[in-house]
Amino acid sequence: SEPRIFVSSPLPGRAIEQIQEAGNVVLGKSGVGVRDEEFLEEGASFEALVTLLTDRVDAALLERLPALRLVANVAVGTDNIDLAACAARNVVVTNTPGVLTEATADLAFGLLLAAARRIAEGDRMVRSGGFQGFRFDTLVGAPVHGSTLGIVGFGRIGQAMARRARGFGMHVLYTQRSRLNPNMETALGATYVSMEEVFAQSDIVSLHCPLTDETKNLVSSKRLSTMRPGSILINTARGACVDEAALAAALREGPLGAAGLDVFARESTTSVSIDIELLACKNVVFTPHIASADLATRVAMAETAAKNLVAFFHDGNPPNVVRY
Ligand code: GLV
Ligand code: GLV
Repeated sequence: SEPRIFVSSPLPGRAIEQIQEAGNVVLGKSGVGVRDEEFLEEGASFEALVTLLTDRVDAALLERLPALRLVANVAVGTDNIDLAACAARNVVVTNTPGVLTEATADLAFGLLLAAARRIAEGDRMVRSGGFQGFRFDTLVGAPVHGSTLGIVGFGRIGQAMARRARGFGMHVLYTQRSRLNPNMETALGATYVSMEEVFAQSDIVSLHCPLTDETKNLVSSKRLSTMRPGSILINTARGACVDEAALAAALREGPLGAAGLDVFARESTTSVSIDIELLACKNVVFTPHIASADLATRVAMAETAAKNLVAFFHDGNPPNVVRY
C-alpha cells in the first residue's frame, strides 16, 4: 500500500503534486503543523513528515509516530529536529541546502545596508513628518564601502555574503572550524581569522553558522564587549546564537552602534517573544524571519523537499541527507 505522508503546511509550486506521486498526503494546517491533535491521534501510520522549521521534531513526537522513516525539512537548518533521536530510530532527515543561499545573502546584505545607513530610522522619520529639509547632520550612519565585514560561518551562505561585500568594496574576514583552501580564499577575497579576531577586527559582523551546541549564545556579553565601538551585528542565521539581553545592553551602552536581525532566540510556531529592551532599541532593524522568502526561492525549497521525499521512497537515496 502507498505510504502515508503528513505535510505540515501548504507548500507553493508543484511540491504537493510531486509528493503525492510518492504516497497519500494528509495536509496540515498552516501555523499548526505537527502540533495538530488530530494528526497526532492518527500519527501511528505516517511514514514521512514534511516539516517547516517551526515544527519541533523531538523524541516525544517520534514516540507517537512508530512507522516514521523520513523527515523532509523545508529549510537548510535542522535545529528544529532532534537528529540523535531520529538516528536512534533509523529515521532519515533531509534538508534543502543550496536553493536558498542567494536569497538569504540578499536579505542579510539588505539588513547590513539598512542598519549601517539607518534606512528604517529614515523611513520612520519621513512618515512621522520629522523630515523638515536637508540637514548635514541628519541620520549620519556608518560607512559600508571600505569597512571590514566579519563573517561567522563560511558555508554557501557566508560565501555568498562575501561576494556581495566585495562588490561593495568591503574587506572580508571569515571564521569557521575549517579553513578553505587558499585558491578559494583568493577567489572570494576573504581572509581567515580566529573567532576572537573576527569580532575584534570587524566593523560589521554577520552570522551564517548553523545553530548547534557550539554556536548557542556564541554572541555573548563577553564577546560583544570585544567588538569595535560603533560596530554592527547582522543575524540571519538563528536567534539562539545571540544572547538578546546582552545584545540590547551592548546597543544601549556600547560598544555596538546598530544591529540587523531576522531571527530571534524565542520563536515558536505561534509566538515570538523578543527581549523587551532589544525591541526598544531604535538602532536595530528587524525583519520577521524572511531571509529565504523570495518567490522563486520558496518554490525551490518546497520542490527540493519534495524531490528528497520522492527519491527516498523510490530508491532510499535522497540527495540531501543530513548526517547525525
Ligand atoms: C531558514 O531559516 C532555513 O533554515 O531554511
Ligand atoms: C547553507 O546552505 C550554508 O552552507 O551556509
